[in-house]
Amino acid sequence: MHRIDVGLAERSYPIHIGRQLFTSLPTLLTDLPGQLCIITNATIAAHYLKPLQAALPESATVIVHEIADGEHAKSISSYGEIMDALIAASFNRDCAILALGGGVVGDLAGFVAATFQRGVDFYQLPTTLLAQVDSSVGGKNAINHPGGKNLIGAFYQPRAVVISTDCLTTLTTRDYACGLAEVVKYGIIYDAQFFAWLEQNAAALNAREPEALAYAICRSCEIKAEIVAADEREQGQRALLNLGHTFGHAIEAEYYTSWHHGEAVAAGTVVAAQYMLQHDELTSADYQRILALLQTFGLPVRAPQLTEAKWQQRMQRDKKVQAGRLRFILPTRIGHAELRTVTDWPGVWQAIRAVTETTR
Ligand SMILES: NC(=O)c1ccc[n+]([C@@H]2O[C@H](COP(=O)([O-])OP(=O)(O)OC[C@H]3O[C@@H](n4cnc5c(N)ncnc54)[C@H](O)[C@@H]3O)[C@@H](O)[C@H]2O)c1
Ligand SMILES: [Zn+2]
Repeated sequence: MHRIDVGLAERSYPIHIGRQLFTSLPTLLTDLPGQLCIITNATIAAHYLKPLQAALPESATVIVHEIADGEHAKSISSYGEIMDALIAASFNRDCAILALGGGVVGDLAGFVAATFQRGVDFYQLPTTLLAQVDSSVGGKNAINHPGGKNLIGAFYQPRAVVISTDCLTTLTTRDYACGLAEVVKYGIIYDAQFFAWLEQNAAALNAREPEALAYAICRSCEIKAEIVAADEREQGQRALLNLGHTFGHAIEAEYYTSWHHGEAVAAGTVVAAQYMLQHDELTSADYQRILALLQTFGLPVRAPQLTEAKWQQRMQRDKKVQAGRLRFILPTRIGHAELRTVTDWPGVWQAIRAVTETTR
């Protein structure tokens, strides 16, 4: 078992990583309160709810709230239903929220925890690779609004994150690949050695070999923990975690039924790399390595067809836009990326066109 600490002074917390970890909950989480609300969905509950419930203190009052499966469940109405359930069950300020699921469950549950009774204890039990390497760590949470993704949310740190890597055996190939997109991101923005390790261990990761997986998850969490500890509220370095995301969010917004988050991020990363390649700020060798690794993990490296107006409109709505100027995370080499303000729209459009698929 591995432990990584997210250093945020009095709000510091541990990330526990290992196999069959839910059975170890009584020793890992010794100060759980007497009222517990598990938020999950039916897909995840079918595999992991019973083991989780069996590990919780017998004396605790436990309620389970299942939301629908899918991004659309990260909604104001799900949020309202959970609040209704907590209030109907007379949960008080000493309760705790347990998020058992992927990024959708984790983001929604985190926002519930941040706001119920002005904030109650919160534990992340991530079950997708994406949630294990990214969304469960760092305290960002949100729900969607019809006007856009993640528009309502808070920064609110969990008390602990418990990552049971064997959960990943039941994940679809597609959802598993989506998590790998965020893993590749850490290599590009922060750690060239890790990127090289990913290249060398790609086959083992595709086969979900436990040892390779454990290392990839630990290193990803370490990097995310370092970045979050240095810049919790995204005033600077934390923005690097958004590599590929401004482009990706535009794709997700237009194609939310057919593109998943990790896939959109992969294609968005290629756009960002292509922009730097065209400006001679990224070598062709590094560009090709980025492309090849994403492809090896079964991720898309071409953006879907979207009109120039749609790209512009979607990206203008991104949270990283400042005073109408686009800000992108752009890789200068494998292991390093920078936040840049870009005024050269024709250059951006040229990069997008260069990596847009010709047929769908
Ligand atoms: N808060 C953050 O910092 C942050 C970072 C990245 C992404 N996100 C958010 O995360 C969300 C995407 O998360 P996701 O990719 O985990 O999607 P998800 O939560 O929708 O999970 C993907 C699918 O896998 C299923 N599933 C979950 N665990 C499973 C398991 N162990 N076995 C089988 N099936 C399982 C789910 O039911 C779902 O159908 C997006 O809403 C995104 O905005 C948040
Ligand atoms: Zn992401």
